[in-house]
Amino acid sequence: MNILLIGSGGREHALAWKIAQSPSLSTLYCAPGNGGMQDIAECITLDISNHETVINFCRENAVDLVVVGPEAPLVEGIADALTDAGIKVFGPKRIAAQLEGSKGFTKDICAKYNIPTAAYGRFKAARPAKDYVTQNGTPIVVKADGLAAGKGVIIAQTVEEAHAAIDDMFGGAYGDAGVEVVVEEFLEGEEASFFALSDGISVLPLATAQDHKTVGDGDTGPNTGGMGAYSPAPVMTEDMTAQVMREIIKPTAQAMRDMGCPYQGVFFAGLMITATGPKLIEYNCRFGDPECQVLMMRLKSDLVPLLVATADGTLDSQMPVWHEQTALTVVLAAKGYPGSYTKGTPIAGLNSITAANLQVFHAGTQQKDGGLIATGGRVLNVTALGPRVSDAQQSAYEAIKQIDWPEGFCRSDIGWRAVARETSVAD
Ligand code: AMP
Ligand code: GLY
Repeated sequence: MNILLIGSGGREHALAWKIAQSPSLSTLYCAPGNGGMQDIAECITLDISNHETVINFCRENAVDLVVVGPEAPLVEGIADALTDAGIKVFGPKRIAAQLEGSKGFTKDICAKYNIPTAAYGRFKAARPAKDYVTQNGTPIVVKADGLAAGKGVIIAQTVEEAHAAIDDMFGGAYGDAGVEVVVEEFLEGEEASFFALSDGISVLPLATAQDHKTVGDGDTGPNTGGMGAYSPAPVMTEDMTAQVMREIIKPTAQAMRDMGCPYQGVFFAGLMITATGPKLIEYNCRFGDPECQVLMMRLKSDLVPLLVATADGTLDSQMPVWHEQTALTVVLAAKGYPGSYTKGTPIAGLNSITAANLQVFHAGTQQKDGGLIATGGRVLNVTALGPRVSDAQQSAYEAIKQIDWPEGFCRSDIGWRAVARETSVAD
């Protein structure tokens, strides 16, 4: 079959790498793809926001399945347009993508279906939002309702900070995303990510992972899109996974069905593992980046039948098999990220990373004049599989030493929580 994959990040390179191994694949197109995908896919330029253009491309090239990597095209309704045109798509429709696109939408589902989450209020004006803060005290969390490129969440330690965040949001600091504001209880615990596929009726658990959001070692500095991840996340026991399926994922799938917009795609649940059990922080309607890189590294089964079954409503026939080992990925980013950084700097040495347990997934790279250059903030994902987290961590950092990119940097402690757990168990 012919597949079109939309996106250009490390997540999409990892998806492309797995799709390319499928015996059922004829041609893989990536729009736009990146500098690491040339060997496995035909990278094309396509105006994704113009659904007619995408549909025409699919018809002209006999595309059987479109896989949408990032959230923005889903929230803009690309899955609706493709489905209406009779083209199979992996990714939820516009209304279902509101699970990521509107925090208030998700919180109301949680309230109605008794899904464990932080207590909250939804506000369309500053005064009642500030009153809610005064009534509930701090720390408290102030969130822009809509998509704000990961920046619309303020954890306020004081009432003044919370009020300032509310004023900023209603003042337009986050554009349309801040027209509505959610104020919610601060949850204490350890964060974990959980992934499950849903075909509208059945839900299939995939795996757990843990991300490292801040730019600096020891979880310091500003937030980024993610500086590294590993899977599985040892903080989540098997019982906890079953509890998340029962109390969070299944009721959400039921809610979407009840609303007449069955969810077909991947549920990416951001969880807080609190003293009273896992609680939902947020949903994303796509795979995580860099969590997807570690998931794909661990997936033994063919990915394509899973994607097709999600789109076809036949997930109950699927039983994915995973490597028992841990996968860990370290992100190499351009110096300055997540602030301003230089583009166009050369990268060398990748060819010397050849071990079977290693993969380098590209994000912001481009092939130029026979060499590789950095074109984005997050640039490479050095990903390793190992018997324990510490083994995977060691392999990834050894591989990074082979990479010659003076303008790049990475965190030196990816996996620290899991390694500490491993060490304390061994003691
Ligand atoms: P979100 O975009 O909703 O995932 O929020 C970004 C980050 O803010 C999360 O990954 C958490 O680290 C933090 N966060 C969000 N909501 C809460 C909450 N209710 N309690 C504690 N931390 C939170
Ligand atoms: N790594 C977090 C995300 O993809 O949203």
